[in-house]
Amino acid sequence: MCGIVGATSDKNVVPILIEGIRRLEYRGYDSTGLAVVNGGATPVLERLVSTARVADLAAQAEAQHLSATTGISHTRWATHGAPTPDNAHPHLSGGEVAVVHNGIIENYEELREKLKAAGYALRTQTDTEVIAHLVHLHWHGDGRGDLLAAVRLAIAEFRGAYAIAVISTREPERVVGARAGSPLLVGIGLHDHFLASDASALMSVTRRVAYLEEGDVADVRREGYAIYDASGAPVERRVIEVKGSGDAVELGPYSHFMQKEIFEQPRAVADTLEDIASITPALFGPKAAEVLGKVDSALILACGTSYYSSLVAKQWIETLAKIPCTVEIASEYRYRDSVPHPDALVVVVSQSGETADTLAALKHAQSIGHQHSLAICNVATSSMVRQTELAFLTRAGPEIGVASTKAFTTQLAAEFLLALTLAKLRGHLSPTDEARHLDDLRHIPAAIRGALALEPHLIGWAQQFAKKQHALFLGRGLHYPIALEGALKLKEISYIHAEAYPAGELKHGPLALVDAAMPVVAIAPNDTLLEKLKSNLQEVRARGGELYVVADLDSHLSAGDGAHLIRVAEHRGLLSPIVHVVPLQLLAYHTAVLRGTDVDKPRNLAKSVTVE
Ligand code: M6R
Repeated sequence: MCGIVGATSDKNVVPILIEGIRRLEYRGYDSTGLAVVNGGATPVLERLVSTARVADLAAQAEAQHLSATTGISHTRWATHGAPTPDNAHPHLSGGEVAVVHNGIIENYEELREKLKAAGYALRTQTDTEVIAHLVHLHWHGDGRGDLLAAVRLAIAEFRGAYAIAVISTREPERVVGARAGSPLLVGIGLHDHFLASDASALMSVTRRVAYLEEGDVADVRREGYAIYDASGAPVERRVIEVKGSGDAVELGPYSHFMQKEIFEQPRAVADTLEDIASITPALFGPKAAEVLGKVDSALILACGTSYYSSLVAKQWIETLAKIPCTVEIASEYRYRDSVPHPDALVVVVSQSGETADTLAALKHAQSIGHQHSLAICNVATSSMVRQTELAFLTRAGPEIGVASTKAFTTQLAAEFLLALTLAKLRGHLSPTDEARHLDDLRHIPAAIRGALALEPHLIGWAQQFAKKQHALFLGRGLHYPIALEGALKLKEISYIHAEAYPAGELKHGPLALVDAAMPVVAIAPNDTLLEKLKSNLQEVRARGGELYVVADLDSHLSAGDGAHLIRVAEHRGLLSPIVHVVPLQLLAYHTAVLRGTDVDKPRNLAKSVTVE
């Protein structure tokens, strides 16, 4: 989704602005741009934009020998207005002010009218253009020639969510940023300081960052910076050293990040489980023993793939800890009149920790009286981790492909640990069971490796799927969410319409869709539901449907006329979903490759969905 970088330095910032947004490219965008303050005595703004890739923007900058010491850059994921050069950020006003913006200004139409009345000509369909004009208006009016004051006055008029970075020819060595609802941080250098929407954008120049909090405004200059809270009072925000490998965005020997990330799963799950010798609440933070011991239920809020992992978690929590667990799609929960239950543990599950709907759902849950919250998240510095009482950090490493893979399996590992911890605190986990479950968890990386070895078979399946328009995924119990995840992966990157059903629902409607043109994927582990599932598969075969069955070594199923079969390792019990999802990821990946889609950046999608 949209990305922001700002810099002011004693050196040329153009390479920093470009490298910063290159590092944010993976989040998905449909146009990109930068603006710098240039010239000596009479500075001017220079703006470059592209509706192609960041590489194209870099080529333009190089061709023009662009060099400047202050500037801002952006990757845009269109919300208001098509991805055209005009609508690309930065947006300018009066040739003096340039703005980049993440988020949505909800009252932009009303502000457009006000600006038109004040004599501004609005050239674009974006909500961002109004920000540039408002800052310009206030700079020349009640802001009294001060960019910080002008930004403050402008944001006081906004409704909605935003992170912005603003520069002006009138104050050429200054970048002003503001945040409300979208992340923004200050990067701290020696004779240079930065703004960015994500620390990873600045990894080539600094690892020392200070995150802005809601309502903060940052005044960034070459030799230092100041942060002010919503009331205008100067505040100190903690400076942290960002860890992680600066080169994590490299593809290495793989064709796509999604492929790399699928194959990283044994390592990612092993890292997530590293150092876990016993089940203890301390895994979830210092206050976890008290909190996890007293909650009487769980409410999980998430979106997309994280929602599907949470559907598995619900079954684990109810089976092992024997407390009720509900799972809600965050975008629904946030607007629903729900009954608050202060003794519930609110769990947000998210790869990025910045998904706008999940963050808003968390805030909504807290505002209506829920007292206890936990984030299961892959980004230590994310808003969700900072806004919850407890946290468990998955160690998937940066996930670049829009289609989530290793985040899903590491979330499942974390959610299983949560279920075990809640069970132990309630006396439902004997030492023998604890040791057995931990042992089972430690064998999961090897079982995933076994599933990855099935890749040649899945390429064979993909050759069939690539020719289809639709596909159906079936699962039961713990594997129904895996069917949902398999269908999501396929539609997201191959653009084949795919739907998932609990296999028992087939005869209540979807069976009408089944004919020879409809491939049906069935997840068929050797669990208590296998016999029931076999009957459902017969129903498909009887209607001429082609079956693709993902079984266990010990599933007692055989391939045959119209039924293709692969087997992962022997049945992994409750942990089986973590293994069974892997063939479905590979199937989606190879189908998309054969169809020639942009696997890592599927059309219309973004990695981190920071707008509603
Ligand atoms: O960062 P999050 O886990 O909160 O993201 C949630 C969804 O946007 C995400 O899982 C999305 O569904 C993926 N593209 C699915 O592959």
